[in-house]
Amino acid sequence: ALKRATTPSSTKLLLGRSFSSESQPERKVAILGAAGGIGQPLSMLVKLNPLVSSLSLYDIANTPGVAADVSHINSRAEVAGFAGEEQLGKALEGSDVVIIPAGVPRKPGMTRDDLFNINAGIVKSLCIAIAKYCPNALVNMISNPVNSTVPIAAEVFKKAGTYDEKKLFGVTMLDVVRAKTFYAGKANVPVAGVNVPVVGGHAGITILPLFSQATPKANLPDDVIKALTKRTQDGGTEVVEAKAGKGSATLSMAYAGAIFADACLKGLNGVPDIVECTFVQSSVTELPFFASKVRLGKNGVEEVLGLGPLSDYEKEGLENLKPELKSSIEKGIKFANQS
Ligand code: NAD
Ligand code: LMR
Repeated sequence: ALKRATTPSSTKLLLGRSFSSESQPERKVAILGAAGGIGQPLSMLVKLNPLVSSLSLYDIANTPGVAADVSHINSRAEVAGFAGEEQLGKALEGSDVVIIPAGVPRKPGMTRDDLFNINAGIVKSLCIAIAKYCPNALVNMISNPVNSTVPIAAEVFKKAGTYDEKKLFGVTMLDVVRAKTFYAGKANVPVAGVNVPVVGGHAGITILPLFSQATPKANLPDDVIKALTKRTQDGGTEVVEAKAGKGSATLSMAYAGAIFADACLKGLNGVPDIVECTFVQSSVTELPFFASKVRLGKNGVEEVLGLGPLSDYEKEGLENLKPELKSSIEKGIKFANQS
């Protein structure tokens, strides 16, 4: 009786295992900066993703502890921790997706561009290693200023001869996450069904939420749309001020980063119609990089989608953001080529 009772469940377990490994390919995700404020909750959320078979956690220190902790969670991914530059190659080898939240966060009174001097060098050195150890990986850049760190990564990859514009993404998902929450609040609809494209870049006025395209439609008055736009543009500063010197958004960013990495993995696995907003090489405007809706596929970017119809207010916002975004992009390119 005991045998009869145990056989079906063990068979089910074995079938369950073979089914999941056959239907879901092996996917390795590396997180660089994994011991930080974003890195830790992001590591946990990525560990929970059943599409991930291997999770590699890298930081300059403290990753063995984070990896040991996260590894006890009951999900598919095997977790390994790597600390210090001499372990970076091992951390990266074989990665399908590399997520980069390494670098310093803002304090009250700072702009994201004030982080450039420290973070540009960190991103550059990490991208040199990516070009060497996993040149085909999709790179999800979280480190600020995103408007400059993505162009830095592109230049580093070009120099190494590994650049593929389909595989480099600035993570602007948090702007979408915020726009959805704020819109759902004003429109008084459940956030789960809300969609709001956010285009441009990821700093102040370069963040341009397109509430005219938000769904479900709510016909909110102009002054409410303006207030929602400003709150989305200042969402990062709202958190920086509330944290009062203890850093910037970490938990909502980990959530946004986990959703974006999941979209990248689904695209790689051939799931159709995966569309998210992200900052990529682009010809949607005259600027070389721009955030817009992007269709993700087996090779990364499958299609950069256009902006769609804009309201007059959004058209004005688009023109106003271009000079700042252009100069942040140029600053990144210049840095990567001079040092
Ligand atoms: P944090 O200081 O808590 O963590 C950063 C981590 O990076 C630390 O653990 C640090 O040791 C690590 N690090 C530093 N140099 C490194 C290197 N060379 N290699 C590997 N790791 C290194 O900061 P945080 O709050 O996690 O924020 C990280 C970055 O993300 C900041 O630049 C912040 O501005 C940015 N950010 C971006 C978004 C976005 O929407 N794209 C949102 C929030 C924060
Ligand atoms: C955010 O939007 O929360 C991040 O870019 C962090 C910051 O400095 O605002």
